[in-house]
Amino acid sequence: MRKRYHQTHRNTHTLRTPFGDSPSWDFDSVALTAGECEEAVPMSADAVIEVENLTKSFGSFQALRGLDLKVERGQVHGFLGPNGAGKSTTIRVLLGLLRPDGGTVRLLDGDPWKDVVDLHRRLAYVPGDVSLWPGMTGGEAIDLLGALRGGLNKARRDELVDRFELDPRKRGRQYSKGNRQKVAIVAALASDAELLILDEPTSGLDPLMENVFQEVVADAKRRGVTVLLSSHVMAELETLADRLSIIRDGRIVESGTLTDLRGQTRTVIRAVLERVPDPADLTAFGEVRIDGDRLTAAVDSDKVAEAIAALAPLGLVSLTVAPPSLESLFLRLYENESDPEVTR
Ligand SMILES: Nc1ncnc2c1ncn2[C@@H]1O[C@H](COP(=O)(O)OP(=O)(O)O)[C@@H](O)[C@H]1O
Ligand SMILES: [Mg+2]
Repeated sequence: MRKRYHQTHRNTHTLRTPFGDSPSWDFDSVALTAGECEEAVPMSADAVIEVENLTKSFGSFQALRGLDLKVERGQVHGFLGPNGAGKSTTIRVLLGLLRPDGGTVRLLDGDPWKDVVDLHRRLAYVPGDVSLWPGMTGGEAIDLLGALRGGLNKARRDELVDRFELDPRKRGRQYSKGNRQKVAIVAALASDAELLILDEPTSGLDPLMENVFQEVVADAKRRGVTVLLSSHVMAELETLADRLSIIRDGRIVESGTLTDLRGQTRTVIRAVLERVPDPADLTAFGEVRIDGDRLTAAVDSDKVAEAIAALAPLGLVSLTVAPPSLESLFLRLYENESDPEVTR
């Protein structure tokens, strides 16, 4: 589909949005002329977001270094990485707020930079740091945000306000951080957007509300909504995400279903031994560290019995076996820059 937009506003206007990280739009910088339009790159049928080899620098700092991300229709896709990894930068490119330096980005069969008006009718965004109009009540803000997206589902809106125990009569300036997040979450989930882009949306929510959030995102998924959910906490994504992409230093270092990723985790064995082992006795172990009489090892799940059998003759003073967890995979991916297994 070939689309042309000709921006007629030549002055810079400031549109206040409730989102702290996009407080103003410089219309000149989003002005598009027909000459800039290119033929759209088709995306695969089942993908809602398809990013290939995306690069973005801020001055001499390269925030995104060839990032690939594919989000399939109807899935909840977890976007996991520590602070500073490049999650928000990627999301800002997807929202048409930042222009990429290189790579291809397709979103709902459009180009986020060129088709910004069309695409924003079909998606809803929740940032990690919501700021609201100070004099407007939460309820008014929810309705205004809904109206910007072509209306919202009133019954669902009321249900969400209830479930999040949000008082919609308070004014923006009176809300705590957690309550401002709730306003944006309710507005996004009450809309009929087919794509939700949620950038660390639960920051400031207490654990009870975190649970409500998990439930309402699961409900959205049942309605067929596609969700990109970024987080720096593995536990938050573990129950919700169909697939995960793990980002480090502007690149995806691991991507797959939870089952795929779980398959890569290892059991951690810690032992205190009577005798110092000979490395030749430890072939069953993946990674081993020996510190005096203490041994710490990561072992493939199917080698645990063999590993413990190898330790037994050395005299076990104590032994702990920790089951594989995604948290341990996450830690391993961020542990060591020069580990070839990590940087592949
Ligand atoms: N506008 C900007 N100017 C300069 N550096 C930026 C800008 N936005 C982000 N960065 C840098 O890019 C890196 C990635 O940031 P970000 O995408 O916000 O990470 P995340 O959302 O994963 O925490 C960080 O080192 C951050 O300091
Ligand atoms: Mg961020």
